[in-house]
Amino acid sequence: MPVRELKSQVYSIGSIDWDRRLFDELIPLPGGTSYNAYLVKGSDKTALIDTVDPSKKEELFDHLIALQVKHIDYIITNHAEQDHSGTIPHVLEAFPMARVVTHQKAKEFVKDLLMVPEEKFVTIKDRETLPLGNRTLEFILAPWVHWPETMLTFLREDKILFPCDLFGSHLATSDTFAVDEARCYEAAKRYYAEIMMPFREKIKGYIQKVKELGVEMIAPSHGPVYHKPRFILNAYEDWVGDGVKNEVVIPYVSMHGSTEKMVNYFLESLMIRNVAVKPFNLSKTDVGELAMSLVDAATLVVATPTVLVGPHPLVMYAAYLANLLRPKTRFVSIICSYGWAGKVVEQLAATIPNLKAEIIEPVIVKGYPKENNWQLLDQLADKIVARHKDIGAK
Ligand code: FEO
Repeated sequence: MPVRELKSQVYSIGSIDWDRRLFDELIPLPGGTSYNAYLVKGSDKTALIDTVDPSKKEELFDHLIALQVKHIDYIITNHAEQDHSGTIPHVLEAFPMARVVTHQKAKEFVKDLLMVPEEKFVTIKDRETLPLGNRTLEFILAPWVHWPETMLTFLREDKILFPCDLFGSHLATSDTFAVDEARCYEAAKRYYAEIMMPFREKIKGYIQKVKELGVEMIAPSHGPVYHKPRFILNAYEDWVGDGVKNEVVIPYVSMHGSTEKMVNYFLESLMIRNVAVKPFNLSKTDVGELAMSLVDAATLVVATPTVLVGPHPLVMYAAYLANLLRPKTRFVSIICSYGWAGKVVEQLAATIPNLKAEIIEPVIVKGYPKENNWQLLDQLADKIVARHKDIGAK
């Protein structure tokens, strides 16, 4: 991508990764991603805020050459994960005078992961400032978004927040700013679901701090820059808030059609009762879609056949993932078709201890569902409707 000026002497100089389709060998990236790095030129000092994934280091250097950067004083490191820190050793090699500015915890990570020697660091504390001449950087420690060492950097005079991963989106786009709000909302929600959701309570506090700063621009390390910060702050307030929607998420697998038959009946039963449904056939779905659906649904109903005596492994994977992501799900139930014996309920319940949800009595059927099984599914739908009446949905 070309160098893009956000404000006078403040540049976006990272890289767009149009083709990347998987992150951490886990997270699908249907829209690619970007690794955003920023250059702030003060009257006395120049700071590089974060770097790029090492696979894109040439592009970062091309941008530094294009801007005729001969001197970097500071490499501000908001987060030690390698998609932002991985090019630090290369920048230090090219600009040996530069110092890595970060706090103690992040310093230890960067030393461990990238073998940057101690003498290259300037260690700062929470709310410490760093003058660049006519500009000032302020550092706000914000642990657990999404590693324990994360930090936000605020450019005071221009009121630009550089929050690294927080508020980011895996989205490759030629738009510098978040002008296509529908697309950006979707990508940011997916990012929140996959990366930030487990830290919902922490983020509530950080949103408040960001609002107090009076930010006029939010420049994250992935995806477009928010020139209207209220857009992303409002979205985050909604996602991290305690409200849930009148929705049921139904991840399922069916090997020979019995479970699918029950799922299809159950979907209709809920829809007739005006409950929104989001079914995900786990043998086909993108797990990112499933994660997104968990951001604000009131209820999760997992549907599975038995493999030997336990749940299908794909269902266990989905349950394990839901447990890691800690959504604000309030109710959980299970639909199961078993062959000769079953420990589905025990095994699934043991997989989701992080979900502080009420378990609604599961529907367990032997073999293909029969005439007298449909009413069990209707009863489950009725119980969900009754509970959703009290959810105080947004
Ligand atoms: Fe984009 Fe946590 O790295």
